[in-house]
Amino acid sequence: MSDLQLQPEFQSGEDFAIAMDERDPLKEFRERFLFPKTAGRDCIYLCGHSLGLQPKTAAAYVEQELNEWAQLGVEGHFRAKNPWMPYHRLLTEQTAELVGAKPFEVVVMNSLTVNLHLMMVSFYRPTRERHKIVVERGAFPSDQYAVQSQIRFHGFDPATSLIELTPRPGEACLRDEEIESLIECEGASIALILLGGVNYSTGQAFDMLRITRLGHRLGCMVGFDLAHATGNLQLKLHEWGPDFAAWCSYKYLNGGPGCVAGCFVHERHAREWDLPRFAGWWGHDEQSRFEMGPDFRAMSGADGWQLSNPSIVSLAVLRASMAVFHEAEMQRLWAKSVSLTGYLEFLLNQTASADFSIITPRETERRGAQLSIQLANNGRALCERLAQEGIVGDWREPDIFRVAPVPLYNSYHDVFRFARRFATAIG
Ligand SMILES: Cc1ncc(COP(=O)(O)O)c(C=O)c1O
Repeated sequence: MSDLQLQPEFQSGEDFAIAMDERDPLKEFRERFLFPKTAGRDCIYLCGHSLGLQPKTAAAYVEQELNEWAQLGVEGHFRAKNPWMPYHRLLTEQTAELVGAKPFEVVVMNSLTVNLHLMMVSFYRPTRERHKIVVERGAFPSDQYAVQSQIRFHGFDPATSLIELTPRPGEACLRDEEIESLIECEGASIALILLGGVNYSTGQAFDMLRITRLGHRLGCMVGFDLAHATGNLQLKLHEWGPDFAAWCSYKYLNGGPGCVAGCFVHERHAREWDLPRFAGWWGHDEQSRFEMGPDFRAMSGADGWQLSNPSIVSLAVLRASMAVFHEAEMQRLWAKSVSLTGYLEFLLNQTASADFSIITPRETERRGAQLSIQLANNGRALCERLAQEGIVGDWREPDIFRVAPVPLYNSYHDVFRFARRFATAIG
């Protein structure tokens, strides 16, 4: 029986939301986070798809490292309670579990766009016959800039080497068959398929397994930007088999603004020593790193793509947050997420207004927590008005109001209160 079938039918009254919160097995996790306040009251925070909330334990994790630094100075690299030299490894197991990878396939490093570039250095190797990159039209701007600059860096022209998957006229999301027919048709000229796991604007989740299989059958490399998928969807990266993936940790992972990001390189590339890559000392064989020799020897697995020693303070926050995540368990979070977002959709659909529509797919396997609401008139003003009242989603030009009930800290009552206020605001 699926998790959805276990859910009761949604009802529109407030008592339903209260009853659902009472029986929610994850309800205590809300207490582990700090909610921003408006006029002294906790916000209804539906913006975890942009910046997740601060775990209450984060400050203690950071303070520990600041104290160690104060007391030990440079010796903290080796003598801190959690020595800084291998500190990033404290996150490896949990990260691997979260994205469905083997531990040596993941590493926590840099920030997302940097990791996308590092991955493209290795996995976008255009030739005269095979030089194209496939992205979704309306991919996050940083991804668009990154792929365009990679194409130019290799002496090609985005006008002829960039293929954008475009929804049919009048539709917001891509149909699976369209993605597949374009890849089939252009296959021999495609060097890399690089899609978001979940599109940041529409909230559409892509079928990563099918896309990966198809791309590989046609000889293409396949990578995913999982900024909006990690900590949101149940991922099985090793099994699905993309060549690489990269994500940030400040959205559903609650690692804090600009937190150190994550990266996946599939096992099949773990020992491909002759892959082109940009190197730094943190990717060099650990045993001989401090011999300070001139010749780079990459570590095996995702570790071999590291450049620099990472920010311990940022990793400390991520440790605090990953501990909470680990305890809550992705499978349970997913079950609640399906229900919570379904409930939000149900309530919004009760709103009798023709001034908005939900553009995120209806099927639970084609979305995560986020719903994107397209507003016909004055949407930005509405979004700002709600924010002033402490109801926080976000606005994406030209007409999208994004909201995500996050199963880790949002309640059914949050969703109810949001939907009630939205209905009166849209009138
Ligand atoms: C889908 C996607 N890709 C890339 C980025 C850029 O991330 P960063 O600034 O961490 O490189 C973001 C940021 O929100 C994003 O949502």
